[in-house]
Amino acid sequence: MGAGHTRFGVLDAGPRALVRSAVDAAFASVDKGADRRDVHEAFLATLGFGGHQIGNSAAALAEEAGLVGVPVTRVENACASGGFAVRSAVGALAAGATPLVLVVGVEKMTDVSNARRRYWLGVSGDTEWERSAGLTFAGVYGLIASRYFAEHGDASEALVEVATKNHENGSLNPNAHFQKRVSRDDVRAAPRVARPLGLFDCCPVSDGAAALLLAPAELAHRYTDTPVFLDGTGAGTDFLAVQERRELTRFRATQHAAHEAFRSAGWHRSEVSFLEVHDCFTIAELLALEDLGFASPGEAPALTLSGATRRDGRLPVNPDGGLKAKGHPIGATGVSQAYEVFLQLRGQAGARQVAHAEHALTHNVGGAGATAAVTLFSVG
Ligand code: COA
Repeated sequence: MGAGHTRFGVLDAGPRALVRSAVDAAFASVDKGADRRDVHEAFLATLGFGGHQIGNSAAALAEEAGLVGVPVTRVENACASGGFAVRSAVGALAAGATPLVLVVGVEKMTDVSNARRRYWLGVSGDTEWERSAGLTFAGVYGLIASRYFAEHGDASEALVEVATKNHENGSLNPNAHFQKRVSRDDVRAAPRVARPLGLFDCCPVSDGAAALLLAPAELAHRYTDTPVFLDGTGAGTDFLAVQERRELTRFRATQHAAHEAFRSAGWHRSEVSFLEVHDCFTIAELLALEDLGFASPGEAPALTLSGATRRDGRLPVNPDGGLKAKGHPIGATGVSQAYEVFLQLRGQAGARQVAHAEHALTHNVGGAGATAAVTLFSVG
């Protein structure tokens, strides 16, 4: 029914102010208006990065949203918190929390030192085998990229294409952390962070929030004549430590989530107009295309290099700039993906509007593939 978003980036605002802005924007976006008293349940997606309200932040959301008294549940599944919060909202609506359910995702990441950032980024990975051994998420995805290259050949140029494409899309998104294009040479020449991944293969550390208002389909027209429908949802988990998994280059949590989402919606993949996928590192966008079933194993680089995933291609991917350029305030990301879908499916995405956007998929991953949520949306 409604969706709101703050700017993503290095911001002065604290987490409470970010929540307030995103929620106010979501209410303001409801075409026929919505009363806060219509909200009967809410979900807050956040990691609590930097120690911001590690416990009981649900009550802080209730205060900032003007909903004190309404039940609020915090959902924490690392970077997939937002996607799982949307899924929880679907469950709440099915259980009768009507007419409206609110979902908010927020993270404040940039107000701590680099050492503290590394600590907080690490808390979502395996402690015993990864974190204590000094492995960062960039390091894990660097290993995954190396393994992918060993299995399928050097895909460096496809990673360059993902980075330049997503920065190009981000340059058209006024909420994006980075609103600048980068050239292929910039990407190739950037310092390496964890080989083969360089600076432009990584998402940044960002602040930001996003919010959604959902209602049961039969009540949609009370709020708008252009509702966006949530047709299917799926989710999955995998071993937390990548060393426990059978293979590094496929995320079974994503595969399971996608299977469930397509089954519950009764859709075929050929119906999908565009994707919002979890490109925390450029290699993750290639894995997503394969795990979601849009490319066979090893074929995502060719699909990407063909231009198909550009905004004007046959399967646009991350028209908002993705995590790479729009930014990745952890708890906000999955909700932000749904915000982009809300705009695109209603034809309100401005300069980055995808042509014929009717069916969309969001894909939100926690850690290095340990949790994943996939959601399918349509308009009409
Ligand atoms: N992409 C492009 N530019 C980036 C960037 C990124 N990911 N991260 C930082 N920059 C830019 C900054 O804007 C800044 O530019 P400026 O000098 O023009 O102002 C410059 O690079 C240095 O920024 P700084 O914040 O000092 O970079 P850093 O070296 O401390 O951090 C990374 C760079 C890649 C290590 C950091 O962004 C990172 O850790 N990203 C991954 C986050 C993550 O793991 N999230 C969870 C995913 S599962």
